[in-house]
Amino acid sequence: MIKFLDMISEEVKSAFEAAGYDRELGKVTLSNRPDLCEYQCNGAMAGAKLYKKAPIMIANDVAEKCKESNIFSEVTAVAPGFLNFRISDAVIARFLNEMAADDKFGLAMPENPLKIIIDYGGPNVAKPLHVGHLRSAVIGESIKRITRYAGHDVIGDIHLGDFGLQMGLVITEMQCRQPELVYFDENYTGEYPEEAPFTLSELEEIYPTASAKSKEDESYKERALEATYKLQMGQPGHRALWKHIMNVSLPDLKRNYENLSVEFDLWKGESDVHDIVPGMAQQMKDGGFAYMSEGALVVDVKEESDSKEIPPCMILKSDGAALYTTTDLATILERMEQYHPDKMIYLTDKRQELHFEQVFRCARKTGLVDADTQLMHIGFGTVNGKDGKPFKTRDGGVMRLESLITEIKEEMYRKITDNREVEEAEARATADIVALSAIKYGDLSNQAAKDYIFDIDKFTSFEGDTGPYILYTIVRIKSILNKYKEKEGKQIAELSVNDMTNASEKALMLELVKFNAMMENACEESAPHKVCAYIYDLANAFNHFYHETKILTEEDEKKKEGFIALLNLTKDILETCIDVLGFAAPERM
Ligand code: ARG
Repeated sequence: MIKFLDMISEEVKSAFEAAGYDRELGKVTLSNRPDLCEYQCNGAMAGAKLYKKAPIMIANDVAEKCKESNIFSEVTAVAPGFLNFRISDAVIARFLNEMAADDKFGLAMPENPLKIIIDYGGPNVAKPLHVGHLRSAVIGESIKRITRYAGHDVIGDIHLGDFGLQMGLVITEMQCRQPELVYFDENYTGEYPEEAPFTLSELEEIYPTASAKSKEDESYKERALEATYKLQMGQPGHRALWKHIMNVSLPDLKRNYENLSVEFDLWKGESDVHDIVPGMAQQMKDGGFAYMSEGALVVDVKEESDSKEIPPCMILKSDGAALYTTTDLATILERMEQYHPDKMIYLTDKRQELHFEQVFRCARKTGLVDADTQLMHIGFGTVNGKDGKPFKTRDGGVMRLESLITEIKEEMYRKITDNREVEEAEARATADIVALSAIKYGDLSNQAAKDYIFDIDKFTSFEGDTGPYILYTIVRIKSILNKYKEKEGKQIAELSVNDMTNASEKALMLELVKFNAMMENACEESAPHKVCAYIYDLANAFNHFYHETKILTEEDEKKKEGFIALLNLTKDILETCIDVLGFAAPERM
């Protein structure tokens, strides 16, 4: 379906042409004076120079031609040469009814859908998830859903950090505590036990203890590095222990992400590409790209045009160990072989910018990707506390994601049960749903690259630019629609929006018509915050309309049906938008 603004521009362009001017002058924008008009065109001002004519004369000529079109209800040329427009109610109603009849509400599907891999989440197995992992998961999930809604073929990959130092640390700490375990007997050749030598809660204690020790004790750290190396090289006891760590941690990670409504198509990790690293390194050497420098294997990635120093990309350390860059490159190689994506999008903290710049350049230079494969890193800012410093617990520790979520759920529960009689189980279930909207909207409504303040009071408020406010609006609409259904017993889907509008109804309609252009843009720019900004405006427009209008008590049956159809479309659009943001609305609140 055409975009509403394009439809108007087309009309105004034709008017410019019909009046004897360049049609390209007819570009229309939203009005920045909504008190005067709905849309405006400044083309006559630009045309003045071109045609050596007073802009108002051009504007008058074009306005005359516009009056022949039936899409405008009002066209005015105002000094010094602006063109102001109001759109006919019938045109808007027709557009909305077409939207309502379309699966994607008028969003055009791409002729050639792209295959896109989104690499997000990126938790490190055995380390607890902390608030820093929240953003990657929440933003990545939303970009995946937006891109998928827009018709592309999208694969989400969690890309576990599952082969690094944290594993060596856990193994070393286990060896300190229980040196008699068969995993540490280098001569052992039998089967290893099925049962892990630790539980999840033990594991949750082992890693932080080991990590703290390694910071104080140099030789402990050496041993952990050695253990990591042995694990990577395939030492059977270490591999067996590693399997246990994976088996104990993964179900917990899955549960955590499920609670956040974050779903991955692939649960691959750094360990999956370990075996293809030597071949890849060889290929880079054979191609003349990789060379030895101070014992390490590196590829130069600096370019003439660089304004800052881009160090060489390290492929292998002097002991032959793989690095973070190495596994990322090998993963690109594997993805190209298995999926041949047109595009790969990575979501991490923006402090990893240089890492991805090096990896992308190296992948291009060494031919791991095609010339037209798009590689994109979306670096996000820090989650801060109210003091503007990275978010911490009250006593200054790292905030675990689970604790943070629990805190928000409790706060939501408190707000929902405040001054109200709600059944415990229902209140809990609702609080969980609303809490998710508070967390996700609080994050997604900010441009990803910016830092933001995690403000629990603000995020959980039912008023203002928040998730709960959006859900509250949806629940309000659902309740009206349900009452209508009960009373009138009519099929809501069969009703259509009509063109007998009042001002607040028209304002709501003019928000709705923006949907396809907004979604297309949010997809192109991988920008969930644009969806947030849109639904905030839409919810405001709806609530304004709601307060000004008697809906269910409207006596004119036809008019009431039009209202109901409009409400239904508003609800569908809001729900579609929150779905791509990664949360849902409850039935009641
Ligand atoms: N595990 C990494 C971390 O915690 C993030 C992984 C991001 N994805 C990637 N392909 N490098 O920093």
